[in-house]
Amino acid sequence: MRKLTYYIACSLDGFIGDPKGDATSMYKFIDAEYLAFMNAEYPETVPTQARAQLGIDAPNKRFDTVIQGLNSYRLALDEGVTSPYAHLRQYVATRSLTQSPSPDVELIAEDLVGRVRALKAEDGDKDIWLCGGSQIAGELVDEIDELIIKSYPQLYGTGMPMFGGAGFEPRDFVLDGVRTFGNGVAVRTYTRKR
Ligand SMILES: NC(=O)c1ccc[n+]([C@@H]2O[C@H](COP(=O)([O-])OP(=O)(O)OC[C@H]3O[C@@H](n4cnc5c(N)ncnc54)[C@H](OP(=O)(O)O)[C@@H]3O)[C@@H](O)[C@H]2O)c1
Repeated sequence: MRKLTYYIACSLDGFIGDPKGDATSMYKFIDAEYLAFMNAEYPETVPTQARAQLGIDAPNKRFDTVIQGLNSYRLALDEGVTSPYAHLRQYVATRSLTQSPSPDVELIAEDLVGRVRALKAEDGDKDIWLCGGSQIAGELVDEIDELIIKSYPQLYGTGMPMFGGAGFEPRDFVLDGVRTFGNGVAVRTYTRKR
């Protein structure tokens, strides 16, 4: 069974961005040590265009598939990029977009949970990266098998939650590991306890 992994950047108080989802305030913490870690451990989470600029030519390490909601995908579209993760199988959840802007990107309009369960049931040695954002993560919260939370040393006070619209329910996870960096970022990995 392939895992669905929510790999996400967060403030200390668990927000993935400002109330509109903008997380650019976290960018100032990206220094050489931290960038080297992310590029080495999760090279496939670096967008295709940035990989070219950073000289990353590594094979996919953890993930072979990415799922995002339309609002997250729209950030790439607004930059004129229709296939932001060309090195991965790409799925975008949307009911309003009826035609995919790229042959690389498959749209999911119906039965999001069922489609994710089918992807998880496929054979393969790599997992599925849930990129975000908040709304799609809230809808897929019970399908998440692993969390990789990059906690940046900033308090937001308010903002876009990790899981928009998810109802209250304590869901247990086991801590697998923590990596800390000189920039104050802590990357915690948790497995869902079922
Ligand atoms: N901090 C981080 O690491 C990180 C990572 C990723 C994203 N983000 C931020 O997250 C923000 C976007 O988050 P968001 O919560 O606004 O939006 P989102 O989850 O990215 O996308 C929401 C859209 O996905 C579609 N959708 C949701 N559930 C669906 C379902 N069951 N079936 C079909 N389509 C479905 C809908 O599109 P339609 O309206 O077309 O139906 C919905 O409007 C961005 O600003 C981005 O910067 C942050």
